Formats: sequence, C-alpha cells, structure tokens
Amino acid sequence: MSNKNNSILAINGGDKLIKSKFSSYNSIGHEEIEASNIVLKSGILSDFVGAPGDNFLGGKFVKSFEDKFKKRFQSDHAISVNSWTSGLIAAIGAIDIEPGDEVLVTPWTMCASAIAILHWNAIPVFVDIEEDTFCMDPKKIEEKISERTKAILVVDIFGQSADMEPIIEIAKKYNLKIISDCAQSPGAMYKGKIAGTLADVGGYSFNYHKHIHTGEGGMIVTNNQTIAKKCQLIRNHAEASMLNVKNPDLTNMIGYNFRLGEIESAIGIEQLNKLDKAIKSRQNAAKLLNENLSSIEGLTIPVVREDCTHVYYFYAMKHSEKITGVKRDSIYEALLAEGVPLISKNYQNLHLLPMFTQKQCYGSNNFPWSLNNDVIYNYGEGNCPVAERLNNEEYLGIFMVGSNFNENEVEMMSQAINKVYSNLSELA
Ligand SMILES: Cc1ncc(COP(=O)(O)O)c(C=O)c1O
Repeated sequence: MSNKNNSILAINGGDKLIKSKFSSYNSIGHEEIEASNIVLKSGILSDFVGAPGDNFLGGKFVKSFEDKFKKRFQSDHAISVNSWTSGLIAAIGAIDIEPGDEVLVTPWTMCASAIAILHWNAIPVFVDIEEDTFCMDPKKIEEKISERTKAILVVDIFGQSADMEPIIEIAKKYNLKIISDCAQSPGAMYKGKIAGTLADVGGYSFNYHKHIHTGEGGMIVTNNQTIAKKCQLIRNHAEASMLNVKNPDLTNMIGYNFRLGEIESAIGIEQLNKLDKAIKSRQNAAKLLNENLSSIEGLTIPVVREDCTHVYYFYAMKHSEKITGVKRDSIYEALLAEGVPLISKNYQNLHLLPMFTQKQCYGSNNFPWSLNNDVIYNYGEGNCPVAERLNNEEYLGIFMVGSNFNENEVEMMSQAINKVYSNLSELA
C-alpha cells in the first residue's frame, strides 16, 4: 500500500491525511418507505391488545417480523420488543431472577446489560474480560460464583460471540441460566451456531446505531417455551390469562408495555432482508483494514475466535506502549488530527460507574446489594484489571456501523494509521 510515511504528522503542523467527510451509513431505502406506507395507509400503527385473544401477541407486521426472524436465526421463538433494553429486562424477568440474586456480567458493555439486572433488584457481579476479544473471560467466571449466583449475562461485544462452550459448561456445573446480550452482533457465528441463540435466552438491538435498525427496537430469541411465554407476558402487561396458560408460574407477574409498533415491524422485515449484505460490507472493510494494518508493530488488529465469524460492529484494536514507546492517548490524538473519523480510545467499564462506586454496597437502602448485607460488593478499581488496563492504555476502536466504509475510505483510514505509526518519534 502506498503512503507518504515520512510526512510530518498533522498534530505537529503537517498536512492532514483525511480531508473529506466519510459517507454515512444509511440502510433505509425505498423498501422501508414502501413498507411504512402500507402500514400508514392501513391506519393500524399498533395492533396489540392487552386483553384475551390473538392480538395479545401483536398485529400482522409484529407477528410476521417475529416469524421471519426466528427462521433466519433458527430459533424456536422470537419475541419483538420496543428496545433491547426492554428485551433484557423481559429476559431477566423470564428466568425468574429474584431480589438479591447475583447475575454475572461483563463490565465491558453498554450500561443496559447491568441496569436490566438491577431492575429486578438483583445484583450485577462483574467478571473480567479476555485480553484479545474483550468478551467475558470464561477462566474468570468461577471465582465470582457464590451461592447467590443465578445466571450469567454474556455480552457478544463489538461483533463476535463470547466463548460459549466453556461458559455453557460452567452454567451446567453450577445450575445457572445464561442470557446472551447480542445487541452488537446479529448474524455472527459461533462454531456453526448463530450468536445469541446458544443461551437460555438471547437477543438483539435495532436501535439506529446497529447493523440493521427500526429506529428503536429489539428481538428476544429462545428455544424455551416457558421463557418465551413469560417474555410475551412481560412485554404486554403480564395478562397471564390471555395466553390461556394453566401453569401457576405464569400468573402473578409484573408486566410492562414493551410492544413494538407495526411500522417498526414492517421496517424490521425489510431490514432483516438486508442483514447479510450489511454484515458482508463490514467484513470486507475489516479484511482490507487487516491487510493494511497487520504488519504495524505495536498495533494488534482484531482477533477472531477460531471457527467463528465476526460482524465488526467495532473494529477493536490494541496499542502497545511497551513496543512503541508512545502512549495510546498520544496515538489517538494524532489519528484524530489526521482526520480519522469514528475512532475511539475508550469503552465502558461499568463497574467503575459512579452509581456502583459511590454507594459501595453495605447497608445502603437504595441499592439492591443492601439485600445481601453480609457481603461487600467491590465495584471499584482493581475489580476487573484486564478491562481497566485495556480501557486506560491499549484499546483503539473504529465504529464500523458509522459509515459505509467504501474501499477508498478504508484505504485513506489505513494510510492515516500507517502514517502515525511510521512517525512515532514525533510523538515520543
Ligand atoms: C451491548 C448492548 N447491550 C444493550 C444495548 C441496549 O440496546 P437498546 O439501545 O436497543 O435498548 C446496547 C445498545 O447499544 C448494547 O450495545
């Protein structure tokens, strides 16, 4: 690849390498417009009813979207929801998490993964992440299991699955349920299986910033009929009688309005048709980035788990200060100055959020962890050292769903990164 490696870095007054704005990703086309118009003309924008009958489970487009989704994702049940945050709350409620129960979760995720646990007055316990994939580290799980642990909430972060085989083994050993937060990784494969479907219950986000979206929205998937029914109940005010269910477990539940509208569902059907193309385009961009960046000393390109596929929600790299003698933050500033868009140097470390660190447990009446008041939950620094180090010193990520990343744009981006790493002496 040709680049002017010897030029002065933009951060030091040299020419900025990327001067133009990248194309922005927009997956909404005439298909979604036509589908929305059909719904609008029908006048029925939502066809859910919170009373006995077929419409307890939603309208025509909701049911059709769920039907198509479960076929594509090879899951027995698909339950649409108005966001994946709602989906996580429903999923955790559906596996019978009780106040004071502990749910293992990764800190390296979006806050909804832990907030959904808190919603049921259960307690998130953070498990550190793998060095190379940023997913929950199966080797760190057992040390966090206590007699109160009831479930593991696994997050398929950045576009690839967590290592499900050992996680399933541990869950079996300790009789734990698994919830799969696959918000960022629809269509990724884990050893021949579809990410999100290997857990007791899993699901996906359709917010605007995802590979496919409905504005806001989400989909729960499960092969367990009872969990599916409970999710349907929680989604629609928990009117147990509506499903003609005799099982006493399915009565007396708290439910909400987590219902997805007909327009969003009609859009979702069209978006689902575009999922494979959306994934392919990110994979092509990542392949080109890999080719252009893999030989840079001190920069590690994303690691893809063996026998798995990555759908590249983020292109997550690691910088080594030890090899380069330059701090990650200086590299990041230099990349920004070169005009590299959609690059970030931090991700969320949930266990360090003030809501956890400022109320360190013990005796607080406001937080569910006061329920286990013989236990101290240490949410501060040092609880997940790998996640903290990666966040503070090493991680550099490109948000792949923020642009179309055509070939020319990927080349420019690669040149900018190569330029910075070829002129490290200017930053030392
Ligand atoms: C890992 C993860 N979990 C949960 C969510 C919440 O999804 P939603 O925005 O659809 O509520 C997101 C959204 O970005 C996410 O990335």
